[in-house]
Amino acid sequence: VSLFALSAAAQTYPQRNITMVVPFAAGGPTDTVARLVAESMSKDLGQQIIVENVGGAGGTLGAGRVAAADPDGYTVLLHHIGMATSATLYRKLAYNTLEAFDYVGLVTEVPMTILSRKTLETTDLKGLIEYAKANKDKVTVANAGIGAASHLCGMLFMSAIQTPLVTVPYKGTGPAMTDLLGGQVDIMCDQTTNTTKQIQGGTVKAYAVTTPKRLDVLPNVPTSAEAGLPNFEVGVWHGVYTPKGTPADVNERLSKSLQVALKDPNVAARFAELGTTPSSAEEGTPAALKAKLESEITRWKTVIEAAGQYAD
Ligand code: MLT
Repeated sequence: VSLFALSAAAQTYPQRNITMVVPFAAGGPTDTVARLVAESMSKDLGQQIIVENVGGAGGTLGAGRVAAADPDGYTVLLHHIGMATSATLYRKLAYNTLEAFDYVGLVTEVPMTILSRKTLETTDLKGLIEYAKANKDKVTVANAGIGAASHLCGMLFMSAIQTPLVTVPYKGTGPAMTDLLGGQVDIMCDQTTNTTKQIQGGTVKAYAVTTPKRLDVLPNVPTSAEAGLPNFEVGVWHGVYTPKGTPADVNERLSKSLQVALKDPNVAARFAELGTTPSSAEEGTPAALKAKLESEITRWKTVIEAAGQYAD
């Protein structure tokens, strides 16, 4: 592409700091992913990407903030699978998910892990499922609030074992994990970005990873299929979005920068420690993110409607 083919906006963009809205609390799994990617993209863009945590309402407050922002490339959103599930979970969203955003690309798909408090007597997934079925009125499943990845995984787990359990929502990933560690709740299914250190430290019991292959960082944890729950595959995909109407060249510049971050060995190394991997070059494109969002909205609509657990 010759320079003359680029718009005035893209030739000069970015000229100042860019705000990356993370719709969850600082220090949580999404924030961790965002800060690693933002650091790498900042170097490529020659301007700082400042992460701003706008938590609440399952990520919909932060997404709403970006939907309403100027479409000038200086406000971007890094959101996870909740971007798709909220379209069904929240019946009164302040924005139309498929109309309000432009797409930069996918970032990563974080595996999940099925965990229990350490003091539970079961030792494998089959045992956990038997225990849950036999004690369904008292077995508790923690999550980080309606729309959290752990909420979605908990719903999928209950649907997979065809047994409704007692759901315990927390205000975030931190307090949910604290109570699992303290033994106040029994089960949680959460992202490796939040659970790997605890599993490695032996402070929780891990029964399965939700990927087709075992993870290098958790070699002793079987896949859900190996452990007896075939088809229980779920990954928490993350993507970067801009407000609808962002100049195409600006969006392309951001997407190119995301591609650089996805190939950054530091990003890959930190992701690997957290049990995840950067998205491929094909996935780090606007078209791939758009297709993912559309198909995931459809997929989760069925699951959420079957569970009947809405946020309003
Ligand atoms: C977070 O960053 O707080 C989490 O990704 C929330 C969640 O579990 O969805």
